[in-house]
Amino acid sequence: MKVLHAAAEIFPLVKTGGLADVVGALPEALRAQGADVRLVLPGLPAILQGVERQKVVCELGAMFGAGRVTLKLGRLAHNKVPAYVVDAPYLYRRPGNPYLTPQGHEWPDNLQRFALLGWVAAHLAAGELDSHWTPDVLHLHDWHAAMACAYAVSHPGPSAATVFTIHNLAYQGLFDQADFPLLGLPARLLVPGGLEFHGQLSFMKAGLKYAQRITTVSPTYAEEITTEQFGCGLDGVIRSRRAQISGILNGVDGAVWNPASDALIAAPYSANALDGKALCKAALQRELGLNLDAGAPLFGVVSRLTPQKGLDLVLAALPRLLEGYPEGGAQLAVQGNGDPALEVAFAAAAAAHPGRVSVRLVYDEKLAHRIMAGADALLVPSRFEPCGLTQLYALRYGTVPVVRHVGGLADTVVDASGAALHEDQATGFVFGPATSDALGDALSRAVNAYRDSAQWRQLMQRGMAQNFSWAAAASQYMALYRETLAARAAN
Ligand code: ADP
Ligand code: GLC
Repeated sequence: MKVLHAAAEIFPLVKTGGLADVVGALPEALRAQGADVRLVLPGLPAILQGVERQKVVCELGAMFGAGRVTLKLGRLAHNKVPAYVVDAPYLYRRPGNPYLTPQGHEWPDNLQRFALLGWVAAHLAAGELDSHWTPDVLHLHDWHAAMACAYAVSHPGPSAATVFTIHNLAYQGLFDQADFPLLGLPARLLVPGGLEFHGQLSFMKAGLKYAQRITTVSPTYAEEITTEQFGCGLDGVIRSRRAQISGILNGVDGAVWNPASDALIAAPYSANALDGKALCKAALQRELGLNLDAGAPLFGVVSRLTPQKGLDLVLAALPRLLEGYPEGGAQLAVQGNGDPALEVAFAAAAAAHPGRVSVRLVYDEKLAHRIMAGADALLVPSRFEPCGLTQLYALRYGTVPVVRHVGGLADTVVDASGAALHEDQATGFVFGPATSDALGDALSRAVNAYRDSAQWRQLMQRGMAQNFSWAAAASQYMALYRETLAARAAN
């Protein structure tokens, strides 16, 4: 089975969040199950640099405002997966991240930039660009690649089966309707039952309306997005596709996130040899200027600072977290950047509590590993969370997650209370309402559990024994691809 994945980011080359981790790991896991997988990626500077042995597949000429577009094929250095690179210097050779300028504004021509990615994916799937390789399945990630579905349905010839994965419904790729003619699509697509969304043009809707199958990254989020509360205005469209939507949990890339072999942390450790974790904690406290105190529970945060992540609740619950220090109180290490108001508020919290609260307003992959290893617990109080990867990394690192009962967090962390505790199922602390009181209660329960070192060790070891693997996810995607191909053949 030949499968082409299209996405705007990929770890370790370009990453703004968990999408990159997924795109960096899933293709290889699918290959391990026998699929012939390739990627198509925009020619951003880091991708042009990081894809080895590129050869020109075809010259596409002038398109979407770019004077010259060239399709190249090479392979990813980290896993040797073949990758097509859409080299359009005018559209992609820019600083900043894939979506935003270095000043944090959307690139004004994002419509053209991501329409081009979808166009190339669809035409590869139609067998028009590379006569040596035509995919059976086209797998598109988030709105950035979703337009491939619109190009595929408006194309008269044969095409691959299409699977669209929603990683985050909150980012939809909305543009001015007046720019629709730039897309080169038939006018019949710009209707409420198509790409139109309340007077705007929606790239996300291309995936939701026209993909044969839709997935999202956890079973609970797949249910949640059918409701008004989580549907971001698209719940009606999603309900109308209910029969074609499923949730497949993300996995953990053990080559990147494994405390026994992680070269980025102070000392390796594993579930049966936990001494290294104490060394990691001391090293982290030293590095971050926290009081060197082995007995103070150290809570970590590694996150984008956006309203999604609910970190305002952490600020509001801070007095409770620090209560009673040094006897009972905890320490907090926050790493993240984004929303300026949250950045200011966290910086102020650090200034107010030297030695007890540390805040690093940076994006730094290596520091993320050191926090994951050195913290005792990880806070993920999200308002919504399609899957969430940091709680999975935390489990793997014996760093007990404290999460809200939402989306993929609800699917992956079992609360240490009631039956779960007695049946040896608990892996963390889960709270319900998005309030600082509910978070505060979960924090108090976590601090109490931490004081009982036998109970805490059990929680750590149980978390470390969880197996959220890409192999499991890949076999579910393979089954879905087969089903989608069979359904298409039957029609
Ligand atoms: P999302 O994709 O919504 O941001 P996920 O939990 O799925 O949430 O993935 C976040 C990814 O980004 C993880 O790999 C996490 O370690 C990483 N990350 C988030 N913020 C930072 C940061 N400031 N520095 C380094 N890595 C970060
Ligand atoms: C999105 C979601 C996150 C998910 C990630 C990878 O960024 O916010 O919950 O883990 O995609 O699928």
